[in-house]
Amino acid sequence: MKNRQIIVGLGSRSYPIIIGPDLFRSEAIVDEGDLRGRRYIVVTNDVVGPMYFSTVAERLSSPGKSVEKIIIPDGEQFKSQETLTSIYDQLITKRADRSTTIVALGGGVVGDLAGFAAATYQRGIPLIQIPTTLLAQVDSSVGGKTAINHPAGKNMIGAFYQPQAVFISLEMLGSLPDREFKAGLAEVVKYGAIMDEAFFSWLEGNIQSLLARDYEALGYAVQQCCSNKAKIVEADETESGSRALLNFGHTFGHAIEAGLGYGKWLHGEAVAAGMMLAGRLSVLAGDLKQVEWDRLQQLLIEIGLPVDAPKLGRNRYLELMGYDKKVLDGKLRLVLLRKLGEAYVTSDFSKELLVEVLSGVEQ
Ligand code: NAD
Ligand code: GLY
Repeated sequence: MKNRQIIVGLGSRSYPIIIGPDLFRSEAIVDEGDLRGRRYIVVTNDVVGPMYFSTVAERLSSPGKSVEKIIIPDGEQFKSQETLTSIYDQLITKRADRSTTIVALGGGVVGDLAGFAAATYQRGIPLIQIPTTLLAQVDSSVGGKTAINHPAGKNMIGAFYQPQAVFISLEMLGSLPDREFKAGLAEVVKYGAIMDEAFFSWLEGNIQSLLARDYEALGYAVQQCCSNKAKIVEADETESGSRALLNFGHTFGHAIEAGLGYGKWLHGEAVAAGMMLAGRLSVLAGDLKQVEWDRLQQLLIEIGLPVDAPKLGRNRYLELMGYDKKVLDGKLRLVLLRKLGEAYVTSDFSKELLVEVLSGVEQ
C-alpha cells in the first residue's frame, strides 16, 4: 500500500494527514517539511509508550533534534485536571517553550489531553498527533477538538486547537484489542451513513477485510473517513452548524454510556446502538427507508457491534438526553438521516415519534 495524504484546508492553519502502513519504520516517509521542530516532547501513556515510543523517537530524532517523553496513566479517568497539571509541571521542569512541539502518541484520551496542554501551555505551542486507536485515527486526531473532563461532565473544559500534522501508521492498530477496534469501526460506519453512500456500500462489501485489519482496506477506509472529516471541519471548524452531523447516534449513545455507567460499554458500542435509534426515528419521520435501516443494522451486526440499546426505560433516556450538551437553547437537537449517505441536524422532530422510538427501550 502507498502512503496517502489529505490536507485539512484551514488557510494558514492547514495541515496534512499522512496515512501509511508503517510510517515510522520506513525511510523518508515522514516528510521533513511536516517535522519542522527541533525539540519534541512526546506525551503518551503507560500502555502505548512501551510499544511505540522508541520507534517514533528514532524517526523524529536526527542531528540537532531532541526527543523526550511524558508518560501519563492509561484510562479515561485520567483525562483530568490533575493529569493536565502534571503535564504542565513536567513541561515547566523540562523548560519547554514555544519552539517545543508536543507529540500526542496514543488514543483519543492522550490526543485530547496532550492537545489541550499544547493549546494552553504558554498560550499555545505546536502539536503533532500520532493516533494509535482506530477511533483516534478516523476521528479524534483530526479537526482540533481538545479537552479534559470535569466531574460535572465529559469534555467540559477544552479548546479548538489544530495540530501541525497528523501521522497515521496503520501497523499500530495491530496491537489494539479487538473490542476497541470494533468500537472504532462504529465511527467508520457513521461517516458512510451521514455523508457518503458510496463509502457505505464499499464498507458492506469489504467489512471482512477490515475486520482482518488488511492494510489496503484499512488505508482506504481511514482515508475516506479523514477526508470526509476534513470536509466537515473545513466547512464548520467550531461547530456552529454542520459539524454537528458528526454526532449522529451520539446523543442516544451518550445516554447509553451515562445510563449504564461510563466504561461499561465502549463509546463506539453505544454509538452503534445509538445510530439504530436515530435511524429508527428517521424511518418513522418518513425519511430513511426501512431497507436502508436494515442495511445499517446488518453492517453493525457483521462487525459485532450492539444494535439493541439497553432497556434503561424511556423516561431515563429522555432525562439523560436532556442533560446532553447537544441541547441548545433548551431544545434537543438530533442528527437524523434523510437517506443513507445524507444526514441533517434538527430540533424540529416529533416528540411523539421520539417517545415511540424509546418505547423499544422500556424496562
Ligand atoms: P483511549 O484513548 O482510551 O484508548 C483505548 C485503549 O486502547 C486505551 O487503554 C489505550 O491505552 C489503548 N491503546 C491505544 N492505542 C493502542 C494500540 N495501538 N495498541 C494497544 N492498545 C492501545 O480511547 P479512544 O477510543 O481512542 O478515545 C476515546 C476518547 O476520545 C474519549 O475521551 C473521547 O471523548 C475522545 N474523543 C475525542 C474526539 C475529538 O474530536 N477530539 C472525538 C471522539 C472521541
Ligand atoms: N468527534 C466530533 C467532532 O470532531 O466534531
